[in-house]
Amino acid sequence: MNKQKLSQFDPDIQDAINKELDRQEHGLEMIPSENFVSLAVLDSLGSILTNKYSEGYPGKRYYGGCEFIDIVEQLAIDRAKEIFGAEHVNVQPLSGAPANIAVYFGLLEPGDTILGMDLSHGGHLTHGHPVTHMTKVFNFIRYKTNSEGKIDLDNLRAMAIEHKPKLILVGYSAYSREIEYEKIKAIADEVGAMTMADIAHIAGLIAGGEMNNPVPIFDVVTTTTHKTLRGPRGGMIMCKEKFAKQIDKSVFPGFQGGPHENNIAGKAIAFKEALQPDFKTYAKQIKANAKVLERKFNEFGYKLCFGGTDNHLLLIDVTPKGITGKIAEKALDKAAITINKNMIPDDTRSPFDPSGIRLGTPALTTRGMKEPEMEIVADMIERVLMNHEDAEVLAQVKQEVKELTEKFPLYPELKK
Ligand SMILES: Cc1ncc(COP(=O)(O)O)c(C=O)c1O
Repeated sequence: MNKQKLSQFDPDIQDAINKELDRQEHGLEMIPSENFVSLAVLDSLGSILTNKYSEGYPGKRYYGGCEFIDIVEQLAIDRAKEIFGAEHVNVQPLSGAPANIAVYFGLLEPGDTILGMDLSHGGHLTHGHPVTHMTKVFNFIRYKTNSEGKIDLDNLRAMAIEHKPKLILVGYSAYSREIEYEKIKAIADEVGAMTMADIAHIAGLIAGGEMNNPVPIFDVVTTTTHKTLRGPRGGMIMCKEKFAKQIDKSVFPGFQGGPHENNIAGKAIAFKEALQPDFKTYAKQIKANAKVLERKFNEFGYKLCFGGTDNHLLLIDVTPKGITGKIAEKALDKAAITINKNMIPDDTRSPFDPSGIRLGTPALTTRGMKEPEMEIVADMIERVLMNHEDAEVLAQVKQEVKELTEKFPLYPELKK
């Protein structure tokens, strides 16, 4: 076995990690699906749990030597149940996309119809975008938001009656409003459809009591664990007891092999963190910070899609200011402010150069930034966008970003 430290054995990788640490420390991370995990979560990811095969589930494994792995996985399950009030939890999905695919195959037959949100209105690729393999297997029909940016429930009901879906799917990647789960469940009941919510983006806000929780209402709820929930990269499925067998069999052996138990330990630790009282404060602050950005971008004259935000993210049409999403993303990158270009509802531009940008507050809030910092950040973004061709301004803002981030150190313990 190689006994050298990473920095000795593989300086190329160590150097890339150091540079990425510096980028994370000295940049403003505003991609709404990103966050910073705790040192405790980092420790678990680099632990010896990565060595163990444990196909199966706690108490029912296909491999020997799983007695300690079982403790880890059961803790993750029990804590997730406590946070969300779930009847059954599967913590093995390797990420959000595999979790969704496992649900489709667990609950449906090939050819069945799924009613999900259009991608340009905030839905995720795995909710039936034509580029995904899932559209070769299932029949995806897509609903949209109305002109006020609300989910058009009348239209959703009409589509459900017309297309008779087996599954109605809510939960989004770029939608910034609250979701009325009870009303959607009532529509599903009317047409005999099952209900699925993908809370990948907002799981942390739900855990912190800041957004509606679909888990007690819907049949199945999927999530990632690495966004607002602030855990390691990974997925999770929660469901009613009556779907437990189908879901578990679909994840393993239907779709995946051995679970990544170092990662499941990271999930368990993140769930313990989410159960602490200060996680509620965190979730509240994420929303308060997003509200400051909402006010500032309104004042600057941008068009906020869906009329604003109830959660951690904003989808902003930048074209009224004479720029595109691609121009905005590139210019902000040069100033060490990371956001992503994004389609806006019914965008007439291409996904490679769309009309919008998507940005959010979970990662900056983790660093401890609050309302006063959000004012400063919004002003910096506006200066970059209004001077996107001026290298001097971009360099000046980059320097200001560095100074601001140094007041909110991220991982001082990791500095060599
Ligand atoms: C709503 C939603 N579901 C699923 C996923 C997929 O998660 P992953 O990238 O972990 O596969 C994402 C990722 O952004 C998402 O936003």
